[in-house]
Amino acid sequence: MILVTGAAGFIGSHTSVELLCAKYSILGIDNFINSNVGVLSKIQQITNKSIPFVEGDICDLTKLRGLFANHSIHAVIHFAALKAVSDSVANPSFYYQNNLMGLINLLTVMKEFDCRFLIFSSSATVYDPENEPPFLEGMSENPINPYGRTKLFSEKIIKDLADSWPNFRYMLLRYFNPVGAHGSGQLGEAPQETPNNLMPYIADVASGKREKLYVFGGDWPTEDGTGVRDYVHIQDLADAHVAALKNLTGGGQSQTLNIGTGIGCSVLGLLHAYEKVSGRAIPYEIVARRPGDVAVSYADVSLAKKVLGWEAHRDIYKMCEDSWRWTNLNL
Ligand code: NAD
Ligand code: WQD
Repeated sequence: MILVTGAAGFIGSHTSVELLCAKYSILGIDNFINSNVGVLSKIQQITNKSIPFVEGDICDLTKLRGLFANHSIHAVIHFAALKAVSDSVANPSFYYQNNLMGLINLLTVMKEFDCRFLIFSSSATVYDPENEPPFLEGMSENPINPYGRTKLFSEKIIKDLADSWPNFRYMLLRYFNPVGAHGSGQLGEAPQETPNNLMPYIADVASGKREKLYVFGGDWPTEDGTGVRDYVHIQDLADAHVAALKNLTGGGQSQTLNIGTGIGCSVLGLLHAYEKVSGRAIPYEIVARRPGDVAVSYADVSLAKKVLGWEAHRDIYKMCEDSWRWTNLNL
């Protein structure tokens, strides 16, 4: 059985679908701090399989021990974490508590029960923004906010455990910008407040929920002056986890891998693609740069392709199309 922490979240729910479709037996855990219970029935509708699930907090060590004692858990895919950069600046202790204590508890119990395979959700945000893109896994790290530091510290904690436990194997997957929704329109990203990220904000403007997009900076050193990112379709990202799990449990070595498309797209590039797909005009206004943003971020994805045989197949239009379908079905 595979334990999926944060199974009701954006990436956890899509990955649970792909794992069930690939006939893995999984057990989900989530405390719904940033998701809701309705996601579980959506997973069931898509896959025709119920997802064994426990509501709970991974910071609760006793609860985690109980899970491992009652189920034969072979590997863990660890998504459960808080992820809003601005919240992490406002409340760093909460972020360190949740993201690091949750991980430490999980690793403690994995060791106790000799569960030796871990796939961890890391982020492109761990890279030093001074690096010249495309970002390569060997490049220097220097996250510039508490959220990013929880990811870098988590990577280091996992590597320390691996140094002390020769049979332990991990994959640190550094996601770039996951976007879109499940092609069925049943699952997607549902921010509880004003979206921080670009694609859900654009979706809100296209649907008429918000008046216009505020573009953070029109004077970046890029082709059209707006920030460039490596957007990756959520189902491609989910597939990467299935590939990583197969590799790791099939004898693969511990790895750190970028997960993206390797292609940069600007803010206006994404906006125009969304306009084309939705048939709606998306008004925007260029405003000041957002503190902490970088001009360009995209991945070198050759290592993931070499190690996992995985690469993203869905382009920017498919990302917008699936986001738009999800938005319309969930107005
Ligand atoms: P999400 O918020 O949609 O999902 C995370 C899930 O974990 C939520 O359902 C939340 O309720 C749950 N959770 C949080 N703390 C918990 C705890 N202590 N116990 C139990 N459940 C808990 O976020 P997501 O976009 O699906 O991200 C998943 C992972 O990927 C996170 O670790 C995030 O940091 C990482 N990541 C996300 C992105 C992105 O842009 N979405 C990029 C890079 C990395
Ligand atoms: C993309 C581009 C903005 C909103 C964040 C986290 C990162 C990772 C992924 C978890 C940038 C511009 C955005 C808006 C805009 N998450 N933008 N108007 O900042 O690359 O990464 O999500 O690990 O840690 O920092 O993504 O979607 O916020 O921004 O102009 O209303 O869109 O300036 O150029 P980002 P994003």
